Amino acid sequence: MSEWTAADIPAQEGRTFLITGASAGVGLRAAAVLAARGASVILACRNGDRAAAAAGRIRETTPGASLRVVLLDLSSMASVRRAAEELRHGTGAIDVMVNNAGIMRAPYRRTDDGFELQLATNHLGHFAFTGLMLDLLLAAPGSRVVTVTSPAHRQGHIDFGDLQSERRYRRGAAYAQSKLANALFAYELQRRLTAAGAKTLSVAAHPGGARTELNRDMPWLFRGRSWGLARPITHSAEAGALPLLRAALDPGARGGDYYAPGGWLEFTGAPVRRESSRQSRDPELQRRLWEVSARLTGVTYPL
Ligand SMILES: NC(=O)c1ccc[n+]([C@@H]2O[C@H](COP(=O)([O-])OP(=O)(O)OC[C@H]3O[C@@H](n4cnc5c(N)ncnc54)[C@H](OP(=O)(O)O)[C@@H]3O)[C@@H](O)[C@H]2O)c1
Repeated sequence: MSEWTAADIPAQEGRTFLITGASAGVGLRAAAVLAARGASVILACRNGDRAAAAAGRIRETTPGASLRVVLLDLSSMASVRRAAEELRHGTGAIDVMVNNAGIMRAPYRRTDDGFELQLATNHLGHFAFTGLMLDLLLAAPGSRVVTVTSPAHRQGHIDFGDLQSERRYRRGAAYAQSKLANALFAYELQRRLTAAGAKTLSVAAHPGGARTELNRDMPWLFRGRSWGLARPITHSAEAGALPLLRAALDPGARGGDYYAPGGWLEFTGAPVRRESSRQSRDPELQRRLWEVSARLTGVTYPL
């Protein structure tokens, strides 16, 4: 694959992109690039002030940007259902949905729905939101769902015996579990789309080590804007947005592809197609997690 940059993105006028967590980090950078190419971008964010500030930043470089903010807190099923309802009534078809929002190594918290916070935000919220938005995606020719995972998925283990970490909570393990869940979800969604004869593609991607705000709960040696000791193995948030954008736009993408930076350990470099872990490709694990997620969230897919 040749080196891919934002300059490879053609005009996107007339296309609608829905990005979760577009108020900061790689989601904001991806939204800015798409808006500059003429796309309509829906910023699905939990904090209205931060979303408005993000929209303001995008408009500094693209004054005529077509942007819409929808309030979405992925850690709350009530909020997920409200946001989906709002979008279903005020939006036509959606061309690309980027399941990007995430938190890493958060202190233990149970959400109002009784879920562990990282699993709720990173996986269960996106599982439910995608299911509730799917018919708007199915209505758009050439549509895609991009789900953002992490190299941490390789250390992940889905603990069905203690999915919500009630017996034991380890921040890093809970993050890795949620990011493995993102990859398993992306591939199982593709299998189900294919089985239903749908043309929508489901693709996984991750930004590598991108200097965003994701490190707020890291040990202090890795915190701050510089990412401290981790700086040499990270790249900018703009560079981190590129694998997501390539997954969303590459005309050569196939359902179930996995886009990541091409460099050492997938941390930095231009975006390329790579291989995710063997575990993430396990169809039995994918199916089992899907069924558990559907039961926990009460969302069934229209496939
Ligand atoms: N940066 C990296 O090195 C790296 C590496 C691998 C994977 N990733 C993945 O990349 C994705 C984006 O992360 P980032 O690095 O851009 O981090 P970030 O700068 O912290 O941005 C995260 C975004 O997610 C939003 N968010 C958090 N909790 C949410 C919730 N409950 N509901 C809705 N939105 C929520 C945040 O909203 P607020 O603005 O309100 O906080 C923010 O917009 C994540 O899925 C992460 O796991 C990042």
